[in-house]
Amino acid sequence: MIISTSAEHTEKIAGALAQRLETGDVVRLHGDLGVGKTVFARGLVRGLESEDLVSSPTYSIMNVYHGRVDIYHFDLYRLEDENEVYEAGLYENIGKNGVSIIEWPDLVSTYPEGRVIDVYLSKNLGVSADCREIVVKGADGFEDTCD
Ligand SMILES: Nc1ncnc2c1ncn2[C@@H]1O[C@H](COP(=O)(O)OP(=O)(O)OP(=O)(O)O)[C@@H](O)[C@H]1O
Ligand SMILES: [Mg+2]
Repeated sequence: MIISTSAEHTEKIAGALAQRLETGDVVRLHGDLGVGKTVFARGLVRGLESEDLVSSPTYSIMNVYHGRVDIYHFDLYRLEDENEVYEAGLYENIGKNGVSIIEWPDLVSTYPEGRVIDVYLSKNLGVSADCREIVVKGADGFEDTCD
């Protein structure tokens, strides 16, 4: 587990993870509303050498950014079931053509071959309002490289 003490710190941690990402990788971002998934996504995008504006793709469902690889950023919060994932054409992009970053990924049941990294964010308000606990699974010991 990694402790983040600020939004900037979370971006930095994500930026370090980004160094390990390649086309075809999927990063699933888990955690409650407002915990910092989009902040983490922004850090990934900056780490992938893109200065594109990163915001929750609330209405578009998917944003595309261009860095050292293409980046597909999904926010599936407003989708009701997996049919909508199909109807929106998202399966044509998830895990293909670039790095995929997915907020609220639970409706997605199948992924192409390739790596799926899970990032779990949670608040620890007992420490401070800006404290976040971050657990990263599937990235080959990445957590151990963070301080
Ligand atoms: N350590 C931290 N890491 C990340 N964000 C933090 C941290 N401390 C405070 N924040 C603040 O928490 C908020 C996180 O918002 P963000 O939009 O990233 O959440 P989210 O998980 O994407 O929410 P949603 O589920 O609505 O998409 C921002 O206002 C950010 O500044
Ligand atoms: Mg968000």
